[in-house]
Formats: sequence, C-alpha cells, structure tokens
Amino acid sequence: MRYRNRFLKVLSSVLYDLPAPVNLTIFWNFGSLLGVCLVMQIFTGLLMAVHYTPEVSQAFDSVVHIMRDVNGGWFLRSAHANGASFFFGCIYAHIGRGIFYHSFFMTHTWLVGCTLFVVLMAIATTGYVLPWGQMSFWGATVITNLWSAIPYVGPSLVEWLWGGFCVGDATLKRFFVFHFLAPFILMVLVGVHILFLHDTGSGNPLGIDSDAEAVPFHSYYVLKDLVGIVIMVGALCIVVFCEPDLFSDPTNFTPADPMKTPLHIQPEWYFLFAYTILRSIPNKLGGAMALAGSVLILYILPLYPKSLWRGSQYNPVAHFVFWAFVSNFIVLTYIGMCPVEPPFEFVGMVASVLYFLFYIIYPLTWFFWENMIFDSVYESTDMYGDNYKETNAAYFCSFYEDEYK
Ligand code: HEM
Repeated sequence: MRYRNRFLKVLSSVLYDLPAPVNLTIFWNFGSLLGVCLVMQIFTGLLMAVHYTPEVSQAFDSVVHIMRDVNGGWFLRSAHANGASFFFGCIYAHIGRGIFYHSFFMTHTWLVGCTLFVVLMAIATTGYVLPWGQMSFWGATVITNLWSAIPYVGPSLVEWLWGGFCVGDATLKRFFVFHFLAPFILMVLVGVHILFLHDTGSGNPLGIDSDAEAVPFHSYYVLKDLVGIVIMVGALCIVVFCEPDLFSDPTNFTPADPMKTPLHIQPEWYFLFAYTILRSIPNKLGGAMALAGSVLILYILPLYPKSLWRGSQYNPVAHFVFWAFVSNFIVLTYIGMCPVEPPFEFVGMVASVLYFLFYIIYPLTWFFWENMIFDSVYESTDMYGDNYKETNAAYFCSFYEDEYK
C-alpha cells in the first residue's frame, strides 16, 4: 500500500522506510520534540486567537477572559505560555548537540536551522507583548528601541516599526499579525530543514559513516521518538497542572501602564543570556550589535575548517571547552536576572567575553588534539618512516572528504 499510493510513498520515505543510523542517542530526539512543540503551539495559539482582542484597552482583559470564562481557556493559555519555554529548552539542546557533534558541517540543514531559531525568537518576542501586561509593554519598549541605535536610519526605523511615536495600539496589532502568521512560515522552513537533512542523512554520535549499519526509521526511531514525546508532554503537563506560573514574571499580572516603569525589566528565561550580553556593553549600538552577534554567530560555524574527527566525542580538550561554554551560558542566564550592580555587572562582562571566545577556542582544540595524537604516534614508532604523520593525516582527510563532500 505505502509503495502504491503516492502520498503514502512520500510519507513513508520520511517516517517509515527512511534508513537511519543504528546508534542515535537521545540527543537526536530533540528534532522531533521541536516538531511536536511547533504543532502544540500552533494548535493552542489558534484556539486562543478566537477569543483574544489585539486592542490596547481590551488585550489584558481578553486574556483574563480566556483564563476565567472560556471553557478550558486556562489550559490553552498555560500550555501555550509554558510550551514556549519547552520549545526553547529543546532548541538549545538541539543546537548544543549540533555544536558538540559538528553537525554544522551539514551546511544547508544548519543554515535553515539558524533561520528557524531567529524566526522563533521573533515569534516569542511578539507573543510576549500580546497579554499587554507591564512586562509586555516595557519589554517591547526596550527591545524595539534597540533598532534606534542604528546610525542615521535608526530613529525613523523604530517609529515605522511602532506605527507611532511609542509602543501602542498599532504596534500591538502588527505584533499580533506577525505572531499569528510566522509559525506557518516556520512550518514551511521545518519542511526545508528536513528535506536538506534527508539529502545527507543524519549524523551519529560516533561521527563515522553509518551507511553500512542503517535501520529503518519505523519501528526503531518512531518508538524512540514517542518515548521522548511522552516524557516531554508529561513534564509540560506537570508544569501546566501543578505550577502554571513557574516561568512567568509576576510583573506581567499588572496591566501595561506607559507612565510607570517597572523597577526591573527582564525578558523570559530563554532570552536572558542575550540580555546579559546586551547589558554588559555600556554603549547602545555596541550592546545591540553584541546581542545580535550572540545569535547570528551560529551562521558562520559551517565556515570552520574541518577537523579529522567529526565531533568532540574523542577529544577531552574540546569536551572541557564545550561544557565550560554550557556552564557559561547558564551563568549568563543567571546574571540576566540580577540587577546591574557589583559583582553581577563584572561577572556578566567576563561571561559575555567568554561566550564569544568559545567560538574561537573551540575549533583550535580540534587541531591542538589532532597534532598531539599524531605527534605521539609518530614519536612512539618509526615503523613507517619519516612521513608517518603526514600519511595518516592524509588518509583520514581522504576518508573524511569522501563522507562529507
Ligand atoms: C523549529 C525548530 C526546529 C525543528 C522543528 C527541527 C527539526 C529537526 C529534526 C526533526 C531533525 C532530525 C532529528 C534530529 O537530529 O534531532 C533535525 C536535525 C538537525 N537540525 Fe533541526 N530543527 C529545528 C531547529 C534547528 C536549529 C535552530 C538548528 C541549528 C542552528 C538545527 C540544526 C539541525 C542539524 C544540523 C540537524 C542534523 C543533525 C545530525 O543529524 O547530526 N535545527 N532538526
């Protein structure tokens, strides 16, 4: 049946018969979890959009109406708001996996992935404005104001973005339209992401050619992905039913008031790392560029020179540098919640510098380790004559080129 019907044939080539490496670990689960997050967000978002009013005098109350009067509205809103946190948790794990296992050398898949990340950030930012609470309004004011740092055109650009002289009704309406539409664009991009992925096939945790040891996607990875989905949806249910306000800011329970600036303005947890980087630079344009750079830097990873081994799994130095980067990311996130005063200010500056330093040091660790390995092998034997090191490096290189050309 699945070979005869055209539609089923395409579907089964993606989800049923697709040859997948035999040794994928749980770090390969996050892609499917991201897909599930996207579907859940679109579903809950669509149902809420039926009851939401994008108008400054009614937006806050319409969200209260969803929470109190609409059947199951409290569930939809909580699942949507907390679903965003799970979405970002998964995307950070997915990107981290890519950095550790050198998946960025799958250039097309990676570049589309980076675009997915940027669009997702824009969706989350515009979505946070919709409940029109204090943090919605002031968060939007801080972030949109950053565009004004662009020399010459900046101030006009911000007014154009606002549709007025400050964040207001026109801003809310266009943010709602963007927040409604962009997830569908995301869906198309996910299709392209998967298309490119299936062109090369998945990587694997050993970083070796997996063609000889492939298994069909069904039932092996259908079941493995299902286990991941049950765990993630279970965890989301625990948050939604037991701690629905776990990730939210109490300030956003107060309706937006342009005349009262909250004492501490901060974004949701998933943007705190970039927020710290922004605040660590005393110059507005510099801060805005560092903020943008902290995300856009992912686009240049495919330009790294290739190492002989694919991934950091056999390289203890790269291991250390990678996990130091992850720890530093957590420090940046924590500092984003603290006031801009000693010692947090200084720690934030150091962590911001370390964040960017990682992207220089990480590739160096590959070549440092390779040289060490080949030097030690060369020193321990003269069996193959003077050019043992070169011969072996050339052998590995040719193997590598064959696999990833
Ligand atoms: C809405 C967001 C995204 C969705 C739904 C998504 C979906 C997926 C899926 C289903 C896979 C295959 C399973 C797996 O390897 O986990 C995958 C693989 C991959 N994704 Fe994503 N992805 C998203 C975002 C990203 C981002 C932000 C990046 C990088 C910046 C990225 C880079 C990659 C790469 C390089 C692979 C192949 C990894 C390998 O096989 O070694 N993706 N993605």
